[in-house]
Parts: sequence; structure tokens; C-alpha cells
Amino acid sequence: MRGKLVVGNWKSNGNLAANAVLLDKLRAVLPAISGVDVAVCVPFPYIAQAQQVLSGSTVAWGAQDVSQFAAGAYTAAVTADMLTDFATKYAIVGHSERRALFAESDSVVAAKFAASNAAGLVPILCVGESLQERESGLAETVIGRQIDAVLSVCGVASLANAVVAYEPVWAIGTGKTASPEQAQAVHAFIRSKIGKLDAVVAAGLKILYGGSVKASNAGELFSQPDIDGGLIGGASLLADDFVAICRAAILRG
Ligand code: PGA
Repeated sequence: MRGKLVVGNWKSNGNLAANAVLLDKLRAVLPAISGVDVAVCVPFPYIAQAQQVLSGSTVAWGAQDVSQFAAGAYTAAVTADMLTDFATKYAIVGHSERRALFAESDSVVAAKFAASNAAGLVPILCVGESLQERESGLAETVIGRQIDAVLSVCGVASLANAVVAYEPVWAIGTGKTASPEQAQAVHAFIRSKIGKLDAVVAAGLKILYGGSVKASNAGELFSQPDIDGGLIGGASLLADDFVAICRAAILRG
């Protein structure tokens, strides 16, 4: 039994005052909800704030990126060891916004995944196709390539301590959600691809869906057999919506 995981991705949003309200609310409400793992991935400057508010609670915290390098002369890069200094559990790697807007290649993403793994962070590897790639029948090719880049550097065993998030680029922040059937088909593809290398790792791997998940559509997505929860952008900034999505996950745990 894999259990469900719901992760908030705050992206470049927030400030000390607004975060305090949101984090306090999550800390107060979420412990009453058992049967689902919950985390929020916050901007780097607020990792310490998340740690301060959420320590001792059932909610974990994560980063939205991590350097592919260890300590050294890499101005502005935040290393995996720095994140673990703040008891950070997760690091998102390869989010489509990082790939598209910051030119992160498959090999850079693989190096970030490796750096996370080595430091004991749980990488959340984002994969997903653009609308054009989907319409050209290339979704599985693109996602397969994104996963292979990590497998070739880190090996399949590294996925035992990782999460994969399927985020179709055309569904992120657009209000367009993949249908439960569309998402399930890709999740099953990812699991079977990994299963060909290691059936145990594949069976235990949490594969999240991300892309316009809301309280109103979370339930049917999370009911799919290979959808193990969600990576939530916009709706994670609203405490009530995020909590409702976590509740939807427990019901389908
Ligand atoms: P969204 O973002 O829920 O706002 O579509 C998801 C994500 O990018 O992780």
C-alpha cells in the first residue's frame, strides 16, 4: 500500500505575514487528518519559517529547486546540504517552469536529482509533455526521455527514495486538467516503464498528478489506481482549498 501524498507548490508567492497565516492554519487543521502525507514546498527564503511553524506537526516542508552542485563557487546556488540543515524533506526537481524559463536540461535535472538523493532529500521529479507534444502523439516519448535521463545517472534504485510528479505542461495554471483517464494512462505508463527495471521499486513509487488540481476535481483524480496524490500549485495558496484536497486524498487512500 503506497498511501497518498499531497504537496503544495507555492511557486514564487508569499511573504512572511501571509505565510504565517497559511502555515498556522495548516498546522492547526491537518493533524486531524490522518492517512495522507502532506508537505508544502516554499520559496528558499521561507524554508526557515516553514521549519519554525511546522516542526513537530504532521506537515513536512520542501524546496522548489536545489543546486546540482555541492558547496563551492556557485554564486546563488542553494545546495542540498543547506536544505537538510533546515530539516527540509523534499526538493522539487525539473518543474516545467524551471525547464522552460530557466533552460534546465534533462541532464541538469538528473544532476539535481542525484544531489538531492545523496543528501537524503526526497526529490520530486516533475515530468510532462507540452500540448504540441501531446497532439503529435509524443507524450510517452518525452516523459520516457525525462525519466531515462535520471535513470542513466542515478539508477532505478534511487527511485525508492523519490517521488515522480506527472504534470502535463498544458494543464499547469491553465484551469485545464487532464481527465482522470488521461492522467491514469500516463501514470500507468510511468509505473510500467520503471517496473520493467525493478518491480518492487515501481510498486512502491508514489506518482503524483499536478496541473490545475482543485478541491472539485481532486477526488476523481485520486481515485485512479496509479495516482498517488497531487502536486498542487494555485490551490495550495488557499488554506481551505488545500485542506479540502488533502481530505479528498484520504478518502481515496
Ligand atoms: P497548478 O500548478 O496547480 O497551479 O496548475 C501545479 C504545479 O505547477 O505544480
